Amino acid sequence: MNFTIFNFDFIDSTNTHALKEAKLGADEGVCIIARQQTAGRGRHGRTWISDKDSGLYFSTVLRPGLEMRFLPLITLMAGVAVHDTLAEIGLKPDIKWVNDVLIDGKKICGILAETVDTSKGLAVIVGIGINLKSSNFPPEISDIATSIKDITGRSLTNTEISVILTRFLGYFYEVLSHETGPETIRDEWCKRSTYANGKSVRIVLENERITGVTDGLEENGALRLKTLDGGVKIIQAGDVEQLRQFEKNK
Ligand code: BTN
Repeated sequence: MNFTIFNFDFIDSTNTHALKEAKLGADEGVCIIARQQTAGRGRHGRTWISDKDSGLYFSTVLRPGLEMRFLPLITLMAGVAVHDTLAEIGLKPDIKWVNDVLIDGKKICGILAETVDTSKGLAVIVGIGINLKSSNFPPEISDIATSIKDITGRSLTNTEISVILTRFLGYFYEVLSHETGPETIRDEWCKRSTYANGKSVRIVLENERITGVTDGLEENGALRLKTLDGGVKIIQAGDVEQLRQFEKNK
């Protein structure tokens, strides 16, 4: 896939802009990158802090030919691409289901995939935020988030990191598009995530918390969770929290 990059000094949200462009007919591979976002969005309506030159704020338009049931795998595919991007610059990332990339348990990247109906068919916007530096983190996230600068001491620019990211995104999107792509992407994701199997976690849903041990992925990328009563719950959405030792038997 060819990426066409549009760079902005600042923008409300690269995802919001890419959604608008997709509705206007933007081709697959159109990418929006901004040095700053004034209304960066995270999952569940949260804000994504997006100070100037502190992160890569990136969104791309995809027009996948995938079966609908496999669309959630696009988020996993993007997680794999981010993982390998960070590994290439010497980091040791982990992927927490479904879309957080962590270094030493701290979040360095979030992914927000959104779908939109357009006159050219369904488009998926994949938004990726990678923390380049942490100096502007507010106190409430400085303990749970990290950045490339924090870990390596290196000040990478958003252009440097986006060159690597688009290479891996292009590669793994191609993989996903093949007949056996969904299975391959699930396998590749599981190889890169300590959360895929045997991890004690708590799933936080809107009105419920479920504790259990992870047990691989469903066909569409949903998380399988063995619960304390011996059953298996299929988690389609929700935040995953790792349980500490003393919490496991609660
Ligand atoms: C999350 O972990 O909650 C997802 C965060 C996604 C943030 C990125 S930054 C680029 C793109 N534009 C946005 O407004 N959000 C995504």
